[in-house]
Amino acid sequence: MMNPLIQRQIAFNLSSSDAWNVFASHRNQVTSMLKQGSDLSRLCILGAGNCNDLDLPALVQAHPEVHLVDIDADALVQGTTRQNLANHANLHFHWDIDLTGTIDRMAHWSPTSILSEADITACIDAPTGCLEKLPGPFEVVASTCLLSQLIKMIVDTIGEHHPQFLEVIQAIRLGHLRLLLQLLNSGGLGVLITDVVSSDSYPPLTSVPTQNLSQVLVQLVRQGNFFHGVNPAAIVHLFRQDPVLSQQVATLEPVGPWRWNFGPRHYAVIAVKFRKR
Ligand SMILES: C[S@@+](CC[C@H](N)C(=O)[O-])C[C@H]1O[C@@H](n2cnc3c(N)ncnc32)[C@H](O)[C@@H]1O
Repeated sequence: MMNPLIQRQIAFNLSSSDAWNVFASHRNQVTSMLKQGSDLSRLCILGAGNCNDLDLPALVQAHPEVHLVDIDADALVQGTTRQNLANHANLHFHWDIDLTGTIDRMAHWSPTSILSEADITACIDAPTGCLEKLPGPFEVVASTCLLSQLIKMIVDTIGEHHPQFLEVIQAIRLGHLRLLLQLLNSGGLGVLITDVVSSDSYPPLTSVPTQNLSQVLVQLVRQGNFFHGVNPAAIVHLFRQDPVLSQQVATLEPVGPWRWNFGPRHYAVIAVKFRKR
């Protein structure tokens, strides 16, 4: 039987596989940040899934190698086929890769589980298991609205009232950020893109003008109305304070927020661009 956490990702991807048109402005935002390339640059995108947030023709033009990574192989195949690029020489597929390295372990967790020190350490360290499966290091590495999905797996297994919940989601987040840096070349560009809150918990989000979005997001964060683990200020702080991350990061640039029209709901999305030393 397939891991239920993977099944959930597949179902989520299927629910938005036809969302190409409605994603247009979000796709422009994401693509514009990943287009900076050169004759030699290699781009690696974590959580590429349906690729509806990626203008792949523009990206394969900017980079001689574009590597798409996801746990959902069908989403990658169908997404690239929709953009008529499934056989493009510059595109490389890495499917069935679990970027947490712990998804099988996590599938056994429940609200009554007591997690060991080894479980927590694995959340931080196991993501590096995918390094040997990917032909890094890369000049540009992006994580496209994946972090909130990784953290949601913890919400869906142990639940947000579990006494170790905070510790686990912080470990997952740290493991993901460290992975991004490990995949990068020295001097390379990392782009962490994450959804922060949706119109499900703040319905007026669908109509907030872009110029007011920053202010609204600050207020929502203050009120605690955002997805666990993706407080933009906390992410920037972590890049600066974690001994492993801060040592490797040369520059940090917060981008956004902007609005992602997902169809059934809208998300406020932010990015953090960083250079590896
Ligand atoms: C919100 S989607 C990103 C948006 C997507 N690029 C699109 O066009 O809709 C997050 C992606 O992360 C993938 N994902 C979730 N957990 C993963 C994991 N542990 N390892 C690798 N990929 C994962 C999902 O399959 C999904 O494609």
